Amino acid sequence: MLKLGLIGYPVGHSLSPWIHNQLMDKAGLKGSYELMEIQPEDFDHRIQALKEMNLDGFNVTIPYKEKIINYLDEIDEAAEHLGAVNTVKLENGRWIGYNTDGIGYLKSIQNRFPHVELSTRKILVLGSGGAARGIIFALAEAGCKEIDVANRTVGKAEELIKELEASLSATAIDLEQASQNIKDYDFIIQTTSVGMNPNPENQIIKLEQLNERAIVSDIVYRPMETQFLRAAQAKGASIQFGHEMLLHQAVYSFQIWTGKKVDVTDMLTDFEAVLK
Ligand code: ATR
Repeated sequence: MLKLGLIGYPVGHSLSPWIHNQLMDKAGLKGSYELMEIQPEDFDHRIQALKEMNLDGFNVTIPYKEKIINYLDEIDEAAEHLGAVNTVKLENGRWIGYNTDGIGYLKSIQNRFPHVELSTRKILVLGSGGAARGIIFALAEAGCKEIDVANRTVGKAEELIKELEASLSATAIDLEQASQNIKDYDFIIQTTSVGMNPNPENQIIKLEQLNERAIVSDIVYRPMETQFLRAAQAKGASIQFGHEMLLHQAVYSFQIWTGKKVDVTDMLTDFEAVLK
């Protein structure tokens, strides 16, 4: 019996139990995936108690992706570089931390657009928070070089680029510049919370000059079809929904815990129904 779960605060609306129950089913494994809501002031003793519970692994969500690092016995290189962990595996009594957010995003794009060579694309990332970090790191690992990062607070975009630097030729710009130069980009990734319920009418930048050959993705998944994606689609661009990233990062976590790689192509329709 697999024992899995999620820690965070709040976790009540999480879709992870649904996803991981499906993954267990598909992999022919029996087990449970529990939501474990931890109040910030209880974190330390709840984590100590978790160590006694003998879980096979768990996911970590807001606000604990950084804090959990202090409690690990080992951390994967990418997660260490990002300074954030969303997946913990118990191995021989030791906790090992990973981050599957960026790689999950990359996989969801490769799945939807298998013939697109991302590394030669001129990319625009909107936002400079934790989600943007993971995605930019994964894009850099995949060989992407030309990435502009636009953020409301440009200084945060500059900082993020400096930290992730590596082989990137990245530039920090403001949202106005991003909107004005939008026709120059082949691939645009919206990583902020703008447009999320309860403000689905908000759109982070204008897409009037968008190139119709562009791919536009939004990591917001509630609502599934954001105003940003609707505007992109109206311009003739190809679009990618946020819930696909969610599904693929879960697939990677599941693979870390069980060694089983589950094909989720036929899960998408059911997942969309759950989201509605
Ligand atoms: P996450 O970890 O989910 O990425 P985060 O670290 O809080 O979340 O980052 C939120 C991102 O959304 C940031 O890029 C933030 O811009 P600032 O750095 O300027 O704060 C962006 N963001 C949030 N609300 C926004 C808004 N109303 N307009 C523009 N950008 C916004």
